[in-house]
Amino acid sequence: PRKPLRVLITGAAGQIGYALAPQVATGNMLGSDQPIILHLLDVEPAKNSLEGLRMELVDGAYPLLEAVHTFTDVAAACKGVDVAVMVGGYPRKAGEERKDVMAKNVSIYQQQASALEANASKNVKVVVVANPANTNALILAENAPSIPRENISCLTRLDHNRALGQISERTGKHVDEVKNVIIWGNHSSTQYPDVNHGTVAGKPIRQAVNDDAWLNGDFITTVQQRGAAIIKARGLSSALSAANAVCNHVRDWVRGTPSGAWTSMGVVSDGSYGVKEGLVYSFPVRCCCGKWTVVQGLAIDAASRERLTATEAELVEERDLALQCLAERK
Ligand code: NAI
Repeated sequence: PRKPLRVLITGAAGQIGYALAPQVATGNMLGSDQPIILHLLDVEPAKNSLEGLRMELVDGAYPLLEAVHTFTDVAAACKGVDVAVMVGGYPRKAGEERKDVMAKNVSIYQQQASALEANASKNVKVVVVANPANTNALILAENAPSIPRENISCLTRLDHNRALGQISERTGKHVDEVKNVIIWGNHSSTQYPDVNHGTVAGKPIRQAVNDDAWLNGDFITTVQQRGAAIIKARGLSSALSAANAVCNHVRDWVRGTPSGAWTSMGVVSDGSYGVKEGLVYSFPVRCCCGKWTVVQGLAIDAASRERLTATEAELVEERDLALQCLAERK
């Protein structure tokens, strides 16, 4: 039997945590043959609700779940973890400035970076979900120099899956037949959902959809603004689809992307496609043996280049704001 893997979920008492923990326990993240030990972290005021989640997980009697531990201390929570899903963060509230929210998150991610570095497994794989996801991941990477850069990522798989879903609905083909869309850039409304290299049932997406006006217009804005549409419909932000995307992200990373297909992950840029090195930017990646590589050599047309650059510019601006917040705290 496989040795259990320790999975940390921060912000576990929140909405995504409630959807994610059972999905990890049933094997959606690491496979139906992989025993799991869950580490659930949240802040002191959420302690009771965290305990409630622990009780429900015990009551789930999940065959793969070896143990569930709850924490309000971040160092203890990070001890020996193999996968860290960083969902905890400070949400923007009405009337707050972007900079105030950034300052709060940057300080959370700086602190949690040190805790991970000091306590997690040396080969820990980190995925940041909490917004601003790319910039939180960048701050985490900068403050955990001994964790290999390539082990730090942010979630854009939800956006990727949303793009697959839109193409599937439009063409009437099962979502499993839609492949190789790309999310470029920031997990924000400047992201670029790119269909130029994708296929539906083996045909190029542009050919299968046969409506460039839709693909260049409503398709892109629908994917970019899907999060807001869910909030409007549910009164709460996406949680079950976010949790599922986290599982897909980690699963592909650990176990590999299917042959012939790629996915989208926010990773530390190595300069591919001219994206400034060191930014956490979403790229098309293939994964094999626990490592991702950026898919190289895709032709980028002028309209796409403009979008790649716009989302990069937003990430530079976010990074500068984050670094300014850190400098002001010193
Ligand atoms: P939520 O507000 O229900 O849960 C967040 C939890 O984090 C709360 O329980 C809170 O107590 C906890 N928390 C706050 N500070 C913490 C800290 N320092 N350490 C540990 N826990 C802490 O929010 P929800 O809906 O679960 O979303 C979580 C985050 O994920 C938000 O930032 C949201 O914007 C983001 N998100 C990202 C998506 C993506 O695709 N990247 C998709 C959906 C949401």
